Amino acid sequence: MLMPTMRTPRTDPLWQLTAACDADRRPDRLDLIVGVYRDDTGASPVFGAVAEAERRIAERSPSKAYLGPAGNRAFSTALTEMLFPSEQVRERTLAVQSVAGTGALRLLAELLAETGPDRTVHLGTPAYLNHRTILTAAGLRVREYPMLLADGRPDPGAAIEAIATAAPGDVLLIQGCCHNPTGTAMPARRWEELAHAMAARGVVPFVDQAYFGLGDGLDADLEGMRRMLDLLPEAVVAVSASKAWGLYNERTGCAIVVSDDPARRAHAYGILETVARAGYSQPPDHGARIVHEILRDPGLYTDWRAELEGMRGRLGALRGGLADALAHRTGTTVFEPLREQRGMFLRLPLSERDMGRLREEHAIHGLPSGRINLAGTPAHRLDRLADAIARVHGASDRAARPLPVG
Ligand SMILES: Cc1ncc(COP(=O)(O)O)c(C=O)c1O
Repeated sequence: MLMPTMRTPRTDPLWQLTAACDADRRPDRLDLIVGVYRDDTGASPVFGAVAEAERRIAERSPSKAYLGPAGNRAFSTALTEMLFPSEQVRERTLAVQSVAGTGALRLLAELLAETGPDRTVHLGTPAYLNHRTILTAAGLRVREYPMLLADGRPDPGAAIEAIATAAPGDVLLIQGCCHNPTGTAMPARRWEELAHAMAARGVVPFVDQAYFGLGDGLDADLEGMRRMLDLLPEAVVAVSASKAWGLYNERTGCAIVVSDDPARRAHAYGILETVARAGYSQPPDHGARIVHEILRDPGLYTDWRAELEGMRGRLGALRGGLADALAHRTGTTVFEPLREQRGMFLRLPLSERDMGRLREEHAIHGLPSGRINLAGTPAHRLDRLADAIARVHGASDRAARPLPVG
């Protein structure tokens, strides 16, 4: 019973860092670790549209009877309509509600492994910490390729090169927008280039949509994926409702499969249902009901879009403010690439050691990779953050400089 096995348990470093941050009693501590949106008071707010949707749902007091492994179908249909306005794409899709974005990633990874045991998934690094774990847990092979240039900007040729080395049936994992952890954004025309390269090679896109609405706006953030799916016969898309609706702990998401072939769609649906049934039987419904209520009611929908825009605007102002403050303090252009990053995260050009110094000397907690959750910074503390980053950067610069001779 419970003997040690070949599989080494892997505790996610994110939660270890969070525990260390919680234990930090310094009053000016800044928690910039986990990807949860916070407002200027440091709270993770419930959207007004979500609270109103919950009120209306409670008033109707809907049944809590089982819904089946595919969950709330009205939710999946409404979400698919929002993501894919094009009917030509929509009629090629099937959607299954999942246990948040993570659950969608896992369902689709299982589907890919089941339908192509020899496939490799090509994953740009630095990657979202959980991607590799999910893919390998489903039995898929993962091949990583570096996606950034030395200055931290995205390497425009990296994904194309990865596709060129891929075998037919291989998969390219692409984050839909606001890449975690690098904050990079891919213009829509690059999605088209990738789609053409993938079509030529028979590579399937696995799109992870977690941060739509927080980059350049809802439609702009979805544009690249929409264009790609116009051009390809098959794709899988994992959708998280956690960030865009602030439903982090309601665990709401959707696994979407796009295929030209109705028989393949039916087969995929069966596999997704089987995996769901074996894992958790059916997903929780509350978050799905909320999202559905917002998507079907024009008033709530308008309110939700305005709130999402407000969050996006705040992130943009914080990012610009931090880049300005760092340019001013350091007198260098080292932090200029931050302006091009999008979404909740920024990837600072700091080493693991520097990030340790930010934590130890300045009570600023980010990830060793340089990632910080910008939304965790109240505007009135932006100067303090910039001061600390500039100091750590200045010190590390000095350490790297050769000592004077003699
Ligand atoms: C890139 C990316 N994908 C998927 C997820 C999964 O989100 P959730 O399972 O909370 O919906 C996250 C969460 O941080 C993420 O950053």
